Amino acid sequence: MATNITWHPSLSHSERSTLRNQPGFTIWFTGLSASGKSTIATALEQHLLRHYHMAAYRLDGDNIRFGLNRDLGFSEADRNENIRRIAEVARLFADSCTVAITSFISPYRRDREAARALHEAKGQPLRFVEVWVDISVEEAEKRDPKGLYKKAREGVIMEFTGVSAPYEEPESAEIHIRSAEESVEESVRRIVAYLEGEGLVR
Ligand code: PPS
Repeated sequence: MATNITWHPSLSHSERSTLRNQPGFTIWFTGLSASGKSTIATALEQHLLRHYHMAAYRLDGDNIRFGLNRDLGFSEADRNENIRRIAEVARLFADSCTVAITSFISPYRRDREAARALHEAKGQPLRFVEVWVDISVEEAEKRDPKGLYKKAREGVIMEFTGVSAPYEEPESAEIHIRSAEESVEESVRRIVAYLEGEGLVR
């Protein structure tokens, strides 16, 4: 850990969002592989850009592992570090008055709570909206678009979430989507309705 470092303050988030005419916040998707979280997150990102003309940017599990987190695998410790880094990045995006939309399995409740705490910390709190894209392992396995569940069952992929690694279900997500029971459009509509109700989009 670095020593002899100093924090340099800048504009407060409220000053910045007044100047930019847009608040920044984070929408944190969590759910099993093949739950549909990336599909819904992508549709939401496009909706906020096209219809609300808001700066919105999606950080996606697979994509981030090509670059920023290319050094991480899927052990519990690596997933903890993956989510810790993403929480920090999302907070920076949100502080810059962008809607940060994250789409990571984020299977550990403690990691998601730490991401929330980082956003909601005293001083300059930022809104954190957790969206649980809920699907049973059986349903996800039926979809299996990348063939990963099959490989996990065959023992080719180890520590696969829902098969050989845990997924800890959220207890207090702001939005609960049962993705086998509603369309992507319906999910986006429900999330946007929530954001409007909270005054986060207008
Ligand atoms: S985590 O748990 O939040 O750190 O995972 P994440 O960064 O979201 O990465 C999930 C994507 O990685 C692929 N993949 C695996 N997922 C789960 N377990 C194992 N062992 C694994 N190996 C590779 C998979 O494509 C995940 O993408 P999604 O979009 O969730 O299907």
